Amino acid sequence: MELKNLKTDFLGKKVIYFEEIDSTQKYIKNNISNLENGTVVITDFQKNGVGTHDRKWYSSKGENLTFSILLYPNCKVKKLEGLTKKIAEVFVEILKELYDINLKIKEPNDLILNNKKVCGILTETSLKGEKVENLIIGIGLNINQEKFPEEIKETATSLKKEYSLKFDKIEILKGFLEKFEKEYLNFIK
Ligand code: BTN
Repeated sequence: MELKNLKTDFLGKKVIYFEEIDSTQKYIKNNISNLENGTVVITDFQKNGVGTHDRKWYSSKGENLTFSILLYPNCKVKKLEGLTKKIAEVFVEILKELYDINLKIKEPNDLILNNKKVCGILTETSLKGEKVENLIIGIGLNINQEKFPEEIKETATSLKKEYSLKFDKIEILKGFLEKFEKEYLNFIK
């Protein structure tokens, strides 16, 4: 898969797409030695999506953004403090710019829309001493999902559920990658 006209230097230049997979996060971990900096792994359906604190991440087929990014920051872990919040801020900016939607950040890693969770961010680092060997960022943003399982029905939502409009997943993804690349480079410099 290729993200056409993506204005980045390295982020998302390589995209690996799966119609379905266990988890994009796990795919990167299992194949890390073959993957380059900035690779995006994206799927239409995760059979076993993972969230923070070993929770499951549920996302219906084909309707949402579920992807992971592999980065080799080559810096000390201290520099990455606040990165998850920055990712959340980038989503807030991009949804405001594209659709005039106001998301709220619930620290450390959630985005909230009308008091319900619409996006989760999972930032995982592998360390060698103080140095970051690699950074894997997993993002689940609920976009066009209308029905949620009973257990999360009261606490989760999607853009479409709140606005009754269909949103363009790829437009949001590209917007995010373009903005986030700049922010990330500032973080690690
Ligand atoms: C959270 O618990 O709020 C974080 C959820 C992160 C989910 C994303 S979906 C893409 C990537 N692959 C996974 O298995 N999990 C992350």
